[in-house]
Formats: sequence, C-alpha cells, structure tokens
Amino acid sequence: MDPQVSRQVDERLDELHRRHLEVEDDAVASVYRPGQGLVDPSEAGDDDGRFGICFVSVDGDVHGVGDFELPFALHSISKVFTYGLALQDHGRERVLERVGVKPSGDAFNALEFDTRSNRPHNPMVNAGALATTDLVKGADVAERIERVVDAQRRYSGNDDLAVDEETYEAELKTADRNRATAYLMRSEGMLDGDVEATLELYLRQCSVSVTCRDLAVMAATLANACVNPITGERTLQSEHVRDVLSIMYTCGMYDFAGEWAYEVGVPAKSGVSGGILAVIPGKGGVGVYSRGLDRYGNSVRGTRVCTDVSDGLGLHVFAPEGEDSLLRRAVED
Ligand code: DON
Repeated sequence: MDPQVSRQVDERLDELHRRHLEVEDDAVASVYRPGQGLVDPSEAGDDDGRFGICFVSVDGDVHGVGDFELPFALHSISKVFTYGLALQDHGRERVLERVGVKPSGDAFNALEFDTRSNRPHNPMVNAGALATTDLVKGADVAERIERVVDAQRRYSGNDDLAVDEETYEAELKTADRNRATAYLMRSEGMLDGDVEATLELYLRQCSVSVTCRDLAVMAATLANACVNPITGERTLQSEHVRDVLSIMYTCGMYDFAGEWAYEVGVPAKSGVSGGILAVIPGKGGVGVYSRGLDRYGNSVRGTRVCTDVSDGLGLHVFAPEGEDSLLRRAVED
C-alpha cells in the first residue's frame, strides 16, 4: 500500500476512535460479564472505556487503533466459522435440513423455532448455532473442538488462538438457557448427537480468546473469498463462501439485522463481549471491540464505527461504484 494512503487510513481510524470514545450513558443497555450474563452498565467496573478498531485490507495491510490487541471472548462471532465447518462437513443440502436461513426477528437466545420445518431459524441465533455445532464431525469432543478452533486459527492466521478455560468455566455456570434450548431441540428431533457434548463444544467455541486484530484478519479472509490475505491459506471451499456471507448479511446482527443491512450494508457478526466483525467484500475487514451493548446485544461503539466507515467511505455493498472511498483507494493501490 502506498505509504501516504496508509497514513491516511491510520488518520481516519484515529479520528473514528476519538469521535466515538465518548458514549452517552443511556445508549448502553447492558454489558456482558462472564459468569453473570448481561448486567446493568453501572456494574461494568472501570474497564468499559476499552475500545479498539482494526482494519485489514485484502492485501494483508494491518491498521489498528486503541485497544486493538486486547483479548476478549469470541462468543457469537464463533457461529460464523462453525457454520462454515458444518457446510464443509455435510454440504449445503444437509445443513439446510437442520437450520433455516431467515432472520428470526427474535432475541439471539430465544426459544423460538421455525415450527413448519422443525428447524432453528438461522445459524446465527443460539439454537441455530447448537444445530451447526452438532454437525461438526470428529471422533470425540476433543477432536471436534480442535477442528473448530483450528478453523478460527486459519481465518485469523493466529496459531495461538485457544479456549480461555476461565471464560469456559464461567460460561458453563450460566448455561441453563443454552442447555434447555439444546434438550428441547433434541426432544423435537432437531439435534442428533450427545447434548452435553454439543453444549460443551458450543460453549468452548464461544470462549476462544481473540483480539480486534484477529477479528479484522478473520473479516479480511471472508472479504477475500475465504483466502487468508496474510497466510495465503484457503479456509473454506469457494462454493460455501457466499452462503456464509449471505447469512451474515441477513442474520449476523440479530434483531437489528434489517437496519444494519439497510444502514451499514456489509456482512457482519457481533458477540456479547462487545466484538463486531464486518466484511467489506473484495476490499477488507474491520474488527471493533467495545463492551457496552445496545438493546439488541450489539456493541454500541462497534455499530457506530461501522456505520460511519460505511457512510463516509461508500462501502455499502449496494452503493454505486465510483463513490470516493479512502479504503477503496487504499485497497486498489
Ligand atoms: O451462548 C451465549 O448466549 C453466549 N455465549 C454468546 C451469545 C452471543 O454472543 C450473542 N451476541 N450478541
């Protein structure tokens, strides 16, 4: 990348970080605490100022600002990679038999299903992720979790990604709702495998520790048709790439997915610990981390940063070509 454009990207990220550092109190509905779940923002402690942004181009240029190398738990962002693995292991038709592709209009942990087809609505809500997790092949839980984390490592290019055992233990303590969902699903014939094994696998994949930089490389890999721009490794067969991105586009931001598709207009996925991964197809990936969540469970600062980036730089996938875009120029140079 041209050093001048690279400097401009850094300046733009700095400016975004400064602009969104302050967040009005009433914008934050909750904060996630391991072992407690969603709590009132006043209980967030003194670390809720943590805020990182990272952009990685499809050429592998990395630009970060703020706390972009601070670790946090992946949570629901893991659902993207597990869905990819299920597609790879079973093919599209089999996966479609087990999980739908429509936005649910419900909260991410709702005990709601498509009763007509007897499937969870989509792979990005908890019930749908339990279904895709159930489909991950492997001789035992250990081999299955290794395959799931290994996929995350390949998307991020970070061989050190691992389950944070402390987070996992805390998740296990607050797993009643996911456990109930999984048993209900088995009773309805939506899950085949050992429910406790599937639950363990799901909670472990949510407990993998990542940074904003990891998120941005994962997003850039998705933006680059699932070829990691830094390692050059293919992470998913090309026939499945569009399925993963379509689901992220329509369902990745939970009940806010429609507004997100309209306003921001790029495939994305959020997690309750405050991470958002946004994919700018053919151009690059953005990772944002900030703990304060809105009423949908999406990071407040993350949503604002992505909206600004998209608006300011004309990145909406349906924006007319030719709009002046700093990132577009950066990627094209
Ligand atoms: O299963 C859960 O509820 C959490 N481990 C993850 C949910 C999540 O990240 C939803 N995100 N907004």
